[in-house]
Amino acid sequence: MGENLIEKILKLKKEKNIIILAHYYQPAEIQDLADFVGDSYYLSEIARECKEEIIVFCGVKFMGESAKVLSPNKTVLMPCEDAGCTMADMASSKAVVELKEKYPNAYVVCYINSTYDVKAHCDVTVTSSSALKILKNVPNEQIIFLPDRNLGGYISEFFPGKEFILWDGFCRCHNKISREDILKAKEEYKDAKVLVHPECPKEIRYMADYIGSTSGIIDYATNDSCNEFIIGTEEGILHELKNKNPNKKFIIPGDRICCQDMKKTTLGNLYDTLLNMKNEIILNEDIRKKALRSLENMHKLGK
Ligand code: 13P
Ligand code: SF4
Repeated sequence: MGENLIEKILKLKKEKNIIILAHYYQPAEIQDLADFVGDSYYLSEIARECKEEIIVFCGVKFMGESAKVLSPNKTVLMPCEDAGCTMADMASSKAVVELKEKYPNAYVVCYINSTYDVKAHCDVTVTSSSALKILKNVPNEQIIFLPDRNLGGYISEFFPGKEFILWDGFCRCHNKISREDILKAKEEYKDAKVLVHPECPKEIRYMADYIGSTSGIIDYATNDSCNEFIIGTEEGILHELKNKNPNKKFIIPGDRICCQDMKKTTLGNLYDTLLNMKNEIILNEDIRKKALRSLENMHKLGK
């Protein structure tokens, strides 16, 4: 049945000239049939530059929205219409406007994990893999960073001369990783290196040998001579880590680190989306144009 569905998806994809993009947190079977798998920055670049006119984005809503903001003439579909990001939902455009009034000289930086109407009020969007590079090109001394207080805190440590005003948002999956989880994993795997995503809290970052985006973690583990790694990010990344490094050992600390929304994509709803062209991302054109500036700045400053 599963294999049959995969064949049907690939056939439809070819017939309709559809490109399928998938984030590293997506279920393994979805990553396997995607045309491109990657981190948020890479996928947004592919979505912007691809020649296909229909994109099926296997990820969460802010990813599909960002693709549509950057490419309004392409049709962007998502296999599951309610695959959101709880962190993105922690910032509203109204609250951003109020904060800007309080800090009129601040440069407003939003993490790509935000809604497009929040992006519309921000100067630049960043991803975890592009944030440091982009911030180096920002001259302002005051920076508002939203919605992730953990990524914002991590970046602020590289710019001691700047004042960072951090939003109080966080990712529930990354924020729940505890020191005890890491210490316990280290007890069992004494030689393992600790690789974590910057969405993790400060005390976890301080225990890490490497801090980076999903693609950064994969590159580090692949190029490093160590054979055992404790991975502080969502467990979907294990698929690509194991593909690239079949002889290395990867350990998720604690019980599980699983983003429920990322796991809402299934072969069934992906097939349904391709067949019936379902769940199209439709945006308000005025807001889209404002959000575009922030996303274009990301591609300009992050190159
Ligand atoms: P990256 O893949 O850009 O590191 O982002 C991780 C993430 O949380 C996406 O929601
Ligand atoms: Fe959002 Fe966290 Fe899921 Fe990423 S892992 S999509 S930040 S809830």
